Amino acid sequence: MSRSVRLVPAAAAVLALALTGTACGGGVHGTPGGAGVRDPYFPKAGNGGYDVGHYALTLDYTPATRHLTGTAVITARATQDLSAFDLDLSGLHVDAVTVDGRDARVSRAGQELTVRPHDDLPRGRTFRTTVRYSGTPHTLTDPDGSAEGWLPTADGALGLGEPVGSMAWFPGNHHPSDKAAYDITVTVPEGLQAVSNGELTSVSTHGGRTGYHWHTPEPMASYVAMVAIGHFDIARTKGPDGLPVLTAVDRTQARASAKVLAKLPEIIKWEEDTFGPYPFSSAGATVAGPDDAGYALETQTRPVFPGAPETGTLVHELAHQWYGDSVTPRSWRDMWLNEGFATYAQWLWQEDHGGDSAQKTFMHYYDGDDDALWAYPPAKPPGAAHISDSPVYERGAMVLHKIRQKVGDEAFFALLRGWAAVHRHGSADTADFTAYVEKQAPGKDFTEIWRDWLYGDGKPAHP
Ligand code: TRP
Ligand code: ZN
Repeated sequence: MSRSVRLVPAAAAVLALALTGTACGGGVHGTPGGAGVRDPYFPKAGNGGYDVGHYALTLDYTPATRHLTGTAVITARATQDLSAFDLDLSGLHVDAVTVDGRDARVSRAGQELTVRPHDDLPRGRTFRTTVRYSGTPHTLTDPDGSAEGWLPTADGALGLGEPVGSMAWFPGNHHPSDKAAYDITVTVPEGLQAVSNGELTSVSTHGGRTGYHWHTPEPMASYVAMVAIGHFDIARTKGPDGLPVLTAVDRTQARASAKVLAKLPEIIKWEEDTFGPYPFSSAGATVAGPDDAGYALETQTRPVFPGAPETGTLVHELAHQWYGDSVTPRSWRDMWLNEGFATYAQWLWQEDHGGDSAQKTFMHYYDGDDDALWAYPPAKPPGAAHISDSPVYERGAMVLHKIRQKVGDEAFFALLRGWAAVHRHGSADTADFTAYVEKQAPGKDFTEIWRDWLYGDGKPAHP
């Protein structure tokens, strides 16, 4: 969703309903929206010609058979006259597609599900696409070798999305540049729990199956949407200013997780003091079994951890709520805006909690002998397989530390908070960031930092 058309779900639904009756496209002759939004690393991710405002996903899953039945109701606005548009969906069987209640023609090629509505859609029209689908969702392997998409676990499953795994479990505009509100309802055999993003607004059991309804009112990129099915202990507590905090802990991890998860309110408070107001209406954590996911992920409001996290990892994934989830990279090239910031958050946490100063951590990396750190500059990963290597994480954090050295602490922390405030719930790229820093610190010269630390090849000559 772009900020100008952000609609609360109810309003979006009403608007879509109001427009549903308008039978034909008013003689509009549209063109296809096109596959992909020219992401430098994932050219087929996302689609042209529309902007999603809301996803309503109704998923029914049975772990024993690994069978998923889904309905996705996608409310979007046409950004051009459209004769057809694509959704991204990998695997699964598409049973039926309607647009504004009328059957649409569909075809599939790779991850592209092309929908041709009965009538062309005029630019500006808000329309509602309903996709009914089913099958066994699959696990995708990233270019960097990590597993995402749908991950079956011992007693359930995990649905994860970074960078392009969400297309394995729901059809959508799967690029970080199109954020939307979500309502996700997951129905599972009674006795299991289903966890997702945002607020748990209802739980109901009928005929041996239990439905969990989760509501995300703020814009969310699809790569941080999440579903976790299994035996979870669900607990609620409060963060700063009464912020609802909900944790879901795989029962085998309850003991190991209790102490670290008790720090959630304190960490959120420290991050609010450092980064500004928490950007969402709820918070929490999802602790999966240690073998269920090979990595932690900053899924919105409720990051996922493979077993009980270390404090530093919790600090990292919570920092992503500001940097990544609220301020979202415009393309996968801007990944350092996520990982450099979340890594620097860990350095700052240590500095404030009796550990090494960020300066010491910076010098540790600068003087260290890990050549991988200097393999490429943070703002220019050489390919999709390298968007999550140490130049993006640690060298990205070093860029922030260089800015701090240049402007001093007071201005630096104002920059951290200001960046999160200016692009709150939006999308931003590296050029936006450098322009923002320059605007906030007139009279300072950042030429060398950008040239040597952000965009330059090799190890900068001076720390
Ligand atoms: N973003 C995660 C983190 O650092 C790490 C991660 C998990 C990742 N899966 C990924 C990064 C896929 C890039 C691609 O918290
Ligand atoms: Zn991260």
